[in-house]
Amino acid sequence: MSDLTPILLVDDDRDLLKATAQTLELAGFEPKLCRHGAEALDGLTDAFEGIVISDVRMPGMDGLELFDRIRRLDAELPVILMTGHGDIPMAVQAIQNGAYDFIAKPFATERMIQCVRRAAEKRRLVIENRRLKDAARQAEHGLPLIGRTPAMERLRDMLRQIADTDVDVLVTGETGTGKEVVASLLHDWGRRSKGHFVALNCGALPEQILESELFGHEPGAFTGAQKKRVGRIEHASGGTLFLDEIESMPLSTQVQMLRVLEMREVMPLGTNEIRPIDLRVVAAAKVDLGAPSQRATFREDLYYRLNVVTLSIPPLRERRDDVGLLFNHFAERAARRFNREAPALTAPIERHLRDHDWPGNVRELAHFAERVVLGVWHAPISEAEVHHMPLGDGSLPDRLERFEAEIIRETLKSCGGDVQQTIAALGIPRKTFYDKLQRHGIVRSEFAARD
Ligand SMILES: Nc1ncnc2c1ncn2[C@@H]1O[C@H](COP(=O)(O)OP(=O)(O)OP(=O)(O)O)[C@@H](O)[C@H]1O
Ligand SMILES: [Mg+2]
Repeated sequence: MSDLTPILLVDDDRDLLKATAQTLELAGFEPKLCRHGAEALDGLTDAFEGIVISDVRMPGMDGLELFDRIRRLDAELPVILMTGHGDIPMAVQAIQNGAYDFIAKPFATERMIQCVRRAAEKRRLVIENRRLKDAARQAEHGLPLIGRTPAMERLRDMLRQIADTDVDVLVTGETGTGKEVVASLLHDWGRRSKGHFVALNCGALPEQILESELFGHEPGAFTGAQKKRVGRIEHASGGTLFLDEIESMPLSTQVQMLRVLEMREVMPLGTNEIRPIDLRVVAAAKVDLGAPSQRATFREDLYYRLNVVTLSIPPLRERRDDVGLLFNHFAERAARRFNREAPALTAPIERHLRDHDWPGNVRELAHFAERVVLGVWHAPISEAEVHHMPLGDGSLPDRLERFEAEIIRETLKSCGGDVQQTIAALGIPRKTFYDKLQRHGIVRSEFAARD
């Protein structure tokens, strides 16, 4: 399959058809020539990845009727109409009904190609959006661990294989990669799911409190220990103990933890009583505990004891193919939560998804999706883009069109997206304003004030 955007080009004038097709080919498109509307409709489905350019005046089915049929097939398939002298009012009407644009014959090549490029880009985004939505729907089955990249498929396979065993597991990955999700799945998918899933962050507590939290204590075991306390280890017996940020566990606690893992018993502080326990330990670390640099702070024997099975979750930037899928999932979830529309994928969003490195991984992506849904995310406009605002060439009406769009964008920007203010600044009626937004494809919410 070729990567070129296919274009259905419909015109009853054979010479013009050929000439236009040539221009499109030179510009890198893949035109399919149709002599009448019926030929264009033949085999056309809403999965068509390209756009349609049609003459208006044709014998039999004219361009407007063709447009009407295509619109019923797929309202998001861009149709560009080629109009002759005197057809302009009709074409304007068609645009109000949803046609993408019109080009008046005879047209300047550059104007046509620009129009086709924009339409093709729009179509590409629509198709990509639908693909992601589809995938997101399927992804729900993978919940709560979404991802279709080989790395994620492997991770899920491993999880299924070991969930039902009692083996202790070390989960490693950068912040926000899903370590806690994996730990809770090991619990939920295993035979211990009826027991407790007890989580403890080893980095968040001072040493003595951490120890009494883990092992429990008798009254008077240390200053301040007034009541007896059952430790998390005992509490997790029959279930799963999740030791988060194990790399921050103090060395002395590590010694005792090693004993728990090896003997499967616990001795609460202030007692000589040994209590047997039956638990699975899942530990999570952001760093590679096996690295020589860890030797000063993390015991090698504990590392080897934990390292029987290690599940390492790759950072998001190493599984980029999951980014779109995850974004859509989080955007739809946020839309439901905030009672907003799920946002359509725009070029700036797509660019950000593609180019950003996601140091905060899935958590950062989830927050990004929420900001997009709330309309508080703004694409940074690069210097290059500012200088390439395409106002320079084309016919006078074209340039005026682009100039108008630019003025509206600028005004929206300076008014922080406020409609009332923008309308006042532009001095045009509200209806005209909205019509223009639609015609220029300007999305007001993209200009809403930053939070
Ligand atoms: N593959 C995934 N599919 C769906 N949601 C995910 C996935 N991975 C992570 N998440 C979500 O991203 C957020 C962060 O995940 P989690 O808390 O498990 O990360 P973590 O690795 O424990 O991070 P930290 O090291 O900062 O504690 C959570 O809201 C989680 O539900
Ligand atoms: Mg975590």
